[in-house]
Amino acid sequence: MSLIGQGISRTDGVKKITGAAEYAADHRVPECVHAVMVTSTVPSGRIKRIHTGHAEEVSGVLQVMTHLNAPRLPSQTSSGKLQPPVGRVLSLLQFDAVHYNNQPIALVVADTLEHAREAAARVRVEYEAAPAVLDFAEAQEHLHPPEKVLAQSTDTRRGDLHAGLLSGSARLDATYSTPNAHHNPMEPHATLAAWDGDRLQLFDSTQYILGVRNVVAGTLGIPPENITVHCPFTGGGFGCKGSVWSHVVLAAMAARQVGRPVKVVLDRNQLFGPVGTRPVTSQRFRLGATEHGKLTAMGHDAIAYTSMIEDWIEPCALASRMLYACPNQETSHRLARMNLGTPTFMRAPGESTGTFALESAMDEMAWQLGIDPLAFRLQNYAERDQGKDLPWSSKSLRQCYEIGAERFGWARRTPEPRSMREGSKLVGWGMATATYPTNRSPASAVARMLPDGSVVVQTASQDLGTGTYTVMTQVACDALGLPVDKVRFELGDSRFPNAPISGGSTTVASVAPAVQAAAEALRLKLIGIALADEASPLHGATADAIVAANGALRLRDDPQRTQSYADILRRHGGNAVEAEASAAPGEEKSKFSMHAFGAVFVEVHVDEDLGQISVPRVVGVYGVGKLLNRKTGYSQLMGGIVWGISLALFEETVFDKRNGRAVNGNLAEYHVPVNADIGDIDVSIVDEEDPHVNPLGAKGVGEIGITGVGGAIANAVFHATGRRVRDLPITLDKLL
Ligand code: MOS
Repeated sequence: MSLIGQGISRTDGVKKITGAAEYAADHRVPECVHAVMVTSTVPSGRIKRIHTGHAEEVSGVLQVMTHLNAPRLPSQTSSGKLQPPVGRVLSLLQFDAVHYNNQPIALVVADTLEHAREAAARVRVEYEAAPAVLDFAEAQEHLHPPEKVLAQSTDTRRGDLHAGLLSGSARLDATYSTPNAHHNPMEPHATLAAWDGDRLQLFDSTQYILGVRNVVAGTLGIPPENITVHCPFTGGGFGCKGSVWSHVVLAAMAARQVGRPVKVVLDRNQLFGPVGTRPVTSQRFRLGATEHGKLTAMGHDAIAYTSMIEDWIEPCALASRMLYACPNQETSHRLARMNLGTPTFMRAPGESTGTFALESAMDEMAWQLGIDPLAFRLQNYAERDQGKDLPWSSKSLRQCYEIGAERFGWARRTPEPRSMREGSKLVGWGMATATYPTNRSPASAVARMLPDGSVVVQTASQDLGTGTYTVMTQVACDALGLPVDKVRFELGDSRFPNAPISGGSTTVASVAPAVQAAAEALRLKLIGIALADEASPLHGATADAIVAANGALRLRDDPQRTQSYADILRRHGGNAVEAEASAAPGEEKSKFSMHAFGAVFVEVHVDEDLGQISVPRVVGVYGVGKLLNRKTGYSQLMGGIVWGISLALFEETVFDKRNGRAVNGNLAEYHVPVNADIGDIDVSIVDEEDPHVNPLGAKGVGEIGITGVGGAIANAVFHATGRRVRDLPITLDKLL
């Protein structure tokens, strides 16, 4: 029986709940010392003087590294970009310039964490302050286009937007905004760097071990082969650990300077600046539609901020280019510079913020036309990707709408705002479309059968808590006919075969085909060994007549003729047998547009007197191709919906406009939902076969869950209250 699709429990679950899972800073390396990063307290200017004397007096201090004494790096220029898929301009103590508050400006190394902290607190800095741009409205006075938007065009145009707007009988022109947010994985960024001669070992909390290896090698000017990166567990990433940030390289620099392994763990406040953010966005939507509800025009113009040192754009309008049928469309992305840390990928970057605006605008237009919001979306159902002018590889959105509406009871909705109540609460029902691209990158894996008939599979992938260990085990088990406890799947070691970043919901679609290919190659090798062995019960058969099951090979039509793997290996001299294989996207990528889709329905309750909003229930239905594990996959989708609720109602980093410092840069004041904020979340998936996305037919499920939820909640709040809030998060003050 196939294990793929079954909701088996996490193979790494026991390790995690017993504390046996070792995260980056848990690794014990002899002689290891501790580093604490010192960060700037002004948003703009230069360091005039930095006083390290008092810090150096603290007992146990080994080094206070500043821009004055840090080793000069070969490749670091003030604009040098190093890391694909994005350039990252790091703060590696090469210059005296300060571009944002909380920017790394020194690293203190001491024998204990306590000594390092004490010394770091004693570093005194005199700045020559310069004017800073800390107001988004002011920043927008100077806009520039990013070079690309995730390798796609910055702007697009099809048809004639203005003619389309004029030809419709209804028009909308509205601007939506989303706030700063910070990823805040439970495990903060952490790096342990240890040199052995010219070889470097890094234990790093990352979504991309090979990215870490290559960026650190490029920055230090050493061969990538000299670096090994370990990351068996990542305690959450959400995009911020997809890039290498300054502390990783600083740890390596310091370890070389002091001649000891160095461990640096960012404190919670340091997650609010130097390691990425979701930037503020402002998104203007223009829609035109006929009285029968056909879109005639769509304009989506997104503005986000970036830092002073680097361009990174929140790709807000990408989903608008493909989600609905519309003959006339323009989309654009523009950047405004601010003295804040560089933004980055964060939990469906672009799709979560962009679909908030798009799905809000669609709801506003439906209301204006007097058409049910779901019917309006069906009216404009895209039968192909108009933006790319390609057919879909698969699309089950109609079924998602249908099943979702049924499970939610959408037909019982009365359209008028404030028309539904429950006791003293206003009840609102809203819906939205969810979507996320199906990304895939090349990957390789090796599968090795040990003499006892068990198998080890290795690839340089990551598990962010998403279930990589578990689903890859399932894939290998199926290919080899082995039970779960006979396969050990290993990841998080840069010496393993190539795997891509665990970002963009890409791991399953990329790595699972490689694992499958390696396991199948191993099976074929074992079949070959058995067939060649005259003493094997399988001798004389043809390879395609043999199946793998229950830890053995057997003839499909004659179950009596069987040989266990352990026996095959014993007769093969007791040696391990291994096979390596690669898998990569083929020409389908240029022939089809590949996306996962879903429909989200939410109920909100709003206290009429106090404006308090709760979300008692959410129904999400998704078409994600083949779901490899019902349990971990559903958890991903549910978790995504929780993030969506968080985006809609809770999260916002507030920067002090006087100095650019996050005023709620901690987990007490940075609001995320707790259990009491989350009601019933009903997730389901539709059966979806997609032969084009990859051999397993699996689309990613990591990020689609968050998309659409912001819009659905805003739409439900409008339905409950008659108040259209276009600015996230929807806090009670905006309803009063
Ligand atoms: Mo995800 S924001 O691509 O890690």
